[in-house]
Amino acid sequence: MRIIRTENYQELSRQAADMIQAAIENKPDCVLGLATGGTPIGTYQQLVERYREGSLDFSSVTTFNLDEYYGVSSDQEQSYHAFMFEHLFRHINVSHERIHIPFGMPEDIEKHCHYYEQIIQDAGGIDLQLLGIGENGHIGFNEPARCLQADTHLVQLSQETIRANSRYFPSIAEVPKQAITMGVRTIFQAKKIVLLASGANKADMIGRMLDGRITTDIPASLLKLHPDLTIIVDREAGSRL
Ligand code: GLP
Repeated sequence: MRIIRTENYQELSRQAADMIQAAIENKPDCVLGLATGGTPIGTYQQLVERYREGSLDFSSVTTFNLDEYYGVSSDQEQSYHAFMFEHLFRHINVSHERIHIPFGMPEDIEKHCHYYEQIIQDAGGIDLQLLGIGENGHIGFNEPARCLQADTHLVQLSQETIRANSRYFPSIAEVPKQAITMGVRTIFQAKKIVLLASGANKADMIGRMLDGRITTDIPASLLKLHPDLTIIVDREAGSRL
């Protein structure tokens, strides 16, 4: 495990973009696992700038997103689908057939989850998975629980997550109560994992994630078992380390 401590959010975003750039340069047809939330926005801005400058080419890259709200259609403003297009996909030359995001309104949820797992395998697995972390230690939407699910599945969101994500919705009542998320095994199968944490509200969780224990109460703590994990924190998020 490698911990990179940065001075501020901008530097964190630059370091994360450097790692993604290196993955693409090393393998132009690489498979990227992508995350939503406020934290990776700066990283995506960096990638867009580098693409515009001509130093990055996404034409052969494949992407898989971690999660999507259940019951939310792709064209809804709060969907993770819309988020990814707004912050990244519509600004770069990634081929739309190679973009994958769980579909929020599948006819058959089990079939869709199984299909999502299958297409990740068919693409040869994820080369680099970008992750944020919830204030309660969730990764993707794998919430703290007595046991965690391995593969892509439908999950009930915790009150804490609903509250944290209510900033993106007109009211807390409109935040979906369920989501589709890659499971911990899906995430673990990535060859390289890069977890980002920024801001004082993440400091406590980063401290707890990195203490000696591994527990499903803090899903992110399992990542310490991964052979190629990099954690990038800014000064505030790293203040309890
Ligand atoms: C959501 C996403 C996670 C993300 C988390 C933290 O719940 N499902 O993938 O890591 O929010 O978001 P933020 O970066 O806005 O703190």
